[in-house]
Amino acid sequence: MADDARPAPKRLFIETYGCQMNVYDSERMRDVLAPLGYAQTDKPDDADLVILNTCHIREKATEKVYSEIGRLRAHKERRAGEGKGMTIAIAGCVAQAEGEEIVRRAPAVDLVVGPQAYHKLPELIARAARQSGERLAAEFTPQEKFDALPVRTPDGVSAFLSIQEGCDKFCTFCVVPYTRGAEYSRPAADVLAEARVLADRGVREITLLGQNVNAYHGEGARGFADLLAAIADIEGIARIRYTTSHPIEMTDALIDLHGSEPKLMPYLHLPVQSGSDRILKAMNRKHDAAFYRDIVARLRAVRPDIALSTDFIVGFPGEREQDFEDTLQLVRDVGFASAYSFKYSPRPGTPAALMLAQVGEEAKAERLARLQALLAEQQRAFNESQIGRVLPVLVAGRGRRPGQSHGRSPYLQAVHFPDTTARDGDIVPVRILAASQNSLAGERADIAAELA
Ligand code: SAH
Ligand code: SF4
Ligand code: F3S
Repeated sequence: MADDARPAPKRLFIETYGCQMNVYDSERMRDVLAPLGYAQTDKPDDADLVILNTCHIREKATEKVYSEIGRLRAHKERRAGEGKGMTIAIAGCVAQAEGEEIVRRAPAVDLVVGPQAYHKLPELIARAARQSGERLAAEFTPQEKFDALPVRTPDGVSAFLSIQEGCDKFCTFCVVPYTRGAEYSRPAADVLAEARVLADRGVREITLLGQNVNAYHGEGARGFADLLAAIADIEGIARIRYTTSHPIEMTDALIDLHGSEPKLMPYLHLPVQSGSDRILKAMNRKHDAAFYRDIVARLRAVRPDIALSTDFIVGFPGEREQDFEDTLQLVRDVGFASAYSFKYSPRPGTPAALMLAQVGEEAKAERLARLQALLAEQQRAFNESQIGRVLPVLVAGRGRRPGQSHGRSPYLQAVHFPDTTARDGDIVPVRILAASQNSLAGERADIAAELA
């Protein structure tokens, strides 16, 4: 397109809720809209187009969307008074699950676009200018979407790369199989091409994304481990991560790769949800607690410095005190570097929402507090165990204080250290001197050695 054909700049505000998949999608929506002259703003009040990229996973997440729409309506009305428009678009998983209800409940919304249709945004926005309340949800396949997206413009040294979407596991508590549809894997050639573009543009660390990323079975690769190995061959890519994994998809090949591929970071998010076999069965997780313990043991055998993070749900229907104790015991046995934990939230259309033995709010809150206290203690202990170690840190910017740099450790901890020479994307050895709940501080081990 010739420069003079470009439309006047318009302002785009995107608010992202939910998981990394939505973070990736928001970035791609920005890419799709850039040729139309949309530039990003960090304030919704002066935006021509606002996109809420929503999450449906828990009731709270969904309710947030409606309260945010309420706030936006005020901006929209004020702008209308000034003779300016504001298009409000709802994207993501709430859009997919409740499209029609959004349009009914929130007339300020101009369009609703599901996760497989956002490559159609330019067209939808043009149409919404004429007619409000349009809905476009599950009419496309993921393949069509990925094919239609423009080349990426990553910002920074770390990037997400979506390789798999949807889920066929049907855990009884979860909406994802309904909001994101059936499991779909992108062809390996497409994934590798996108990874090479990222590497060419300065990305050093790639996090492969999927709701069940290790169930990847795309054309042109013999499974997920094979794809990882091919990505590891790309020059410039120094670190590879993946999320979120399902325990039953941790194949022998994948576990072995953790032992043999140094670019694969020794940090794995492997959700377990509960330590009780009764509850795991009712959740339809397809494995028991012993199976999870065994995977962890095998990972540690091939990669002794591997650290784990996980997800828990407390107060799943039927959960008794003994079941919860089993969860605490699993935490003590495994030892997690970090974890997310949630109170069970009944979701419309899922089997668990209809189970009779719902757990009371008080018991849920009390169990969550006990679990989180234990997890916080483990996280602090893990961070403190890094003191004295030299960690390779991927530099990603200057610190808040002058003369400081910061970056990420292999375990995704934020690391701060005095430095003025490192550039973004460098990987420098940092001796860890102090640890807090959420970050580490240290000094460059290479420079300190030179001075000594
Ligand atoms: N695909 C991932 C996680 C998807 S959702 C996996 O299979 O693990 C992220 C986390 O949200 C889940 O791991 C679970 O701990 C939590 N979650 C999902 N549904 C929930 C619900 N109904 N109530 C509370 N937490 C839930
Ligand atoms: Fe949801 Fe279970 Fe699928 Fe994860 S594996 S997305 S928790 S249904
Ligand atoms: Fe939420 Fe959808 Fe992700 S429901 S957790 S944004 S897949």
